[in-house]
Amino acid sequence: MIEFQHISKAIGGKQVLDKVSGRFVHGKVNLVIGSSGAGKSVLVKCIVGLIHADQGNILFDGTAFLDSATHDTIRIRREIGMLFQGGALFDSKNVEENVIFPLDVLTDMPKEAKLERVNFCLQRVGLANANKKMPSELSGGMQKRVGVARAIVHSPRYLFCDEPTSGLDARTGLLIDELIQELTYEYNITTTIVTHDMNTILFVGDHILFLEQAKNVWEGPSADIFHVEVAALKDFLFSSKLIKMIKK
Ligand SMILES: Nc1ncnc2c1ncn2[C@@H]1O[C@H](COP(=O)(O)OP(=O)(O)OP(=O)(O)O)[C@@H](O)[C@H]1O
Ligand SMILES: [Mg+2]
Repeated sequence: MIEFQHISKAIGGKQVLDKVSGRFVHGKVNLVIGSSGAGKSVLVKCIVGLIHADQGNILFDGTAFLDSATHDTIRIRREIGMLFQGGALFDSKNVEENVIFPLDVLTDMPKEAKLERVNFCLQRVGLANANKKMPSELSGGMQKRVGVARAIVHSPRYLFCDEPTSGLDARTGLLIDELIQELTYEYNITTTIVTHDMNTILFVGDHILFLEQAKNVWEGPSADIFHVEVAALKDFLFSSKLIKMIKK
């Protein structure tokens, strides 16, 4: 389980996170939801250490995740997999080179073992034999799959996916969500998906953290979300006319 308390962050004089607390449950798919600009990406970047929070505590399975290069912090960093908003594949590297990258950086595995692991992950995300393709030759959905393969290649305990369905049609988006959910349960990963995709909120996930204007407004089981009497959450969910039609 990942627990975080009172995370605050100001960027350019603006309070982007204001004492945000919550938890991501072990072996489950946790969603961070909220409107554009609510602070979702910044929160996740603070939790994985890509952005330095001004204030707050972060515990990965009970171990404090600090800025300093302590033994524990280095170990936790190696156990994190990340799928970035927008994919962030290396355009000049082919699929295999993209996916092998974390193994090159984080491990001293022999080349052959690395390739075996890359092939296993590509097969697992439905991209067997795409090794030599360049990102520009792939559809949006296939690029996301490469991103997922790269995020899981070093067998992380913690997986963070920032807007994994953005830019995809609803059907392809759901396939990516389902793939992430399947991998989470299969490998017992603590997964966090950042999203404002209503399909994801309806069909995927176990635990939800709702952010609104830099604050965490609600946290709880996914099953409860459409029954909660929190005005900001209702406004967010029911701003979709489709959701209004099927859930009210
Ligand atoms: N590097 C930065 N420089 C300046 N402002 C930033 C930076 N990163 C984030 N912000 C600001 O922080 C706020 C929260 O940004 P964040 O990217 O976390 O939003 P988000 O909830 O992920 O939105 P979206 O759903 O559009 O991705 C926004 O107002 C944004 O403009
Ligand atoms: Mg974002």
